[in-house]
Amino acid sequence: MLKLGVNIDHIATLRQARLESFPDPIKAARMCEISGADSIVCHLRKDRRHIQDKDLLRLRKSVKTKLNLEMSTDDEIVKIALRVRPDQATLVPEKRQELTTEGGLDVVKYKKNISRVVEKLQCKGIIVSLFIDPKNNQIKASQEVGAEYIELHTGTYANATGASKNRELRRIKQACTYAHKIDLGVNAGHGLDYINVGPIARIPVIEELNIGFSIVAASVFVGLGEAIRQMKQAMVHMDKLRAKRANL
Ligand code: PXP
Repeated sequence: MLKLGVNIDHIATLRQARLESFPDPIKAARMCEISGADSIVCHLRKDRRHIQDKDLLRLRKSVKTKLNLEMSTDDEIVKIALRVRPDQATLVPEKRQELTTEGGLDVVKYKKNISRVVEKLQCKGIIVSLFIDPKNNQIKASQEVGAEYIELHTGTYANATGASKNRELRRIKQACTYAHKIDLGVNAGHGLDYINVGPIARIPVIEELNIGFSIVAASVFVGLGEAIRQMKQAMVHMDKLRAKRANL
């Protein structure tokens, strides 16, 4: 069954906009879990623009499903991850000026450093996933550095229109097939919403989708619990279709 990881950074972004103590991302995480989220995702950025160190510690104590920490390979952040021990770490590229993560990690180029970080995290029992573009050379390099999972970057697909959207979808499907063939677990995320999630949710090998912005945006109108239930519904509907296809 396809899983949903909910990224709660955007709750912390709202809190930080007024430097208040609310809305509390930990309370939000609890509500996400009660409403059907299979994991909680947060990104401790070097500039601490949303999630703070204290949030991460509190999340570690309160998350009952799976805590997935998005993180760069920066030494300070790696040290924190080794101390806090999330269930999973997803390595992402990070640039100070970006609005959100832009593109996947270049595992081919930074193979040596990534390999070192993967090993350190795994030594502490942390499952490692690498957020990469749907390219075979990046998938192969991810396997070579020993990651258990990749998370395919769906941002280009989400932003594309017309024929290029179909082209991007084909690239993602091909990437899934290749990753599965070389025994990597496959997750996906970035820019997914209630409409564009359908074709991605239908790809059989994907285990988990990580979604944040569209859910938190919808929660302004329908509440967080309902926003999650609606996303699960959109995914489950497609999940049934993919199960049906697999049985044909
Ligand atoms: N996966 C990764 C690796 C991300 O960096 C993000 C954004 O924080 C997401 C998934 C979720 O993206 P969105 O907020 O666009 O749903």
